[in-house]
Amino acid sequence: MQIITSLRDIKEQTEKLRSSGKTIGFVPTMGALHQGHLTLLETAAEQNDLSICSIFVNPTQFNNAEDFKLYPRILENDIEALKKSRCAMLFAPSVADMYPETLQLKFDFGELETVMEGKFRPGHFTGVAAIVSKLFHAVRPHKAYFGQKDLQQYAVINRLVTDLSFDLELVCHPIIREADGLAMSSRNRRLSEEQREQATQLYKALQLASGLSKAHTVAEVKEAVSKHLQPFAAIKLEYFEVADVNSLQPLAEFDASDRVALCIAAYVGEVRLIDNVII
Ligand code: PAJ
Repeated sequence: MQIITSLRDIKEQTEKLRSSGKTIGFVPTMGALHQGHLTLLETAAEQNDLSICSIFVNPTQFNNAEDFKLYPRILENDIEALKKSRCAMLFAPSVADMYPETLQLKFDFGELETVMEGKFRPGHFTGVAAIVSKLFHAVRPHKAYFGQKDLQQYAVINRLVTDLSFDLELVCHPIIREADGLAMSSRNRRLSEEQREQATQLYKALQLASGLSKAHTVAEVKEAVSKHLQPFAAIKLEYFEVADVNSLQPLAEFDASDRVALCIAAYVGEVRLIDNVII
């Protein structure tokens, strides 16, 4: 696996690959890789001539300084994991290389930003859109892979690609879970043993909501989710939302014709986790 750390070198390499007719599958990440990331990379390797992974803990998308500071950084482990996967190239740039000057550009994704992650993490999607644009320019992929775990991020990037006419195809990959249902996340590493156990309740709450949605109103389902989580001392629910799967706007009622996303965000101790299911 080739490891590249400068923007100039990755551009040179991907330019060569493109002109020799190779197709590039790209998986952007912030590292602390787990099986969710590695599955995206496997899929990218299968569907393209080669796969490229980026690891960059992007400062502009953190609206909480503590979260940025504590975000797990384990590059040596990540490199070992990538060597065992079918990743051809790792791009791991420095902050100075990606942001030679303070980012001034602001993105406005309209109503997509007024709900859920957009509402609770102001500025987050501007940072995501900026770094993903920079990475797309550097890597110039034919296909780029994102996880359904960050459903709203996928919707934002879809809009970015459409509005700025990025010449690439986006792929949304289903959520990879631990055996007990917890959605894999780099932040899970920060949970204590007890918090890790309670964290499984987020997916249990989503399953409960999914079951109840067949015969109950949205208000009743919301009430049931909040009641379900109450006994778990480590969990502080931030939101549970019933949303249209494409617009991510909240739905007041279930309608058999809608594809609905049940989305949850909660603090487990100090660690903020998100999850969703599509029904
Ligand atoms: P990160 O959280 O490292 O995730 C990288 C990609 O892996 C994202 O597309 C995310 O949705 C996907 N992913 C994470 N956990 C997953 C799981 N359990 N199952 C399936 N896919 C999963 O998302 C980011 O980084 C950043 O915002 C980034 C897009 C790299 C921009 O900085």
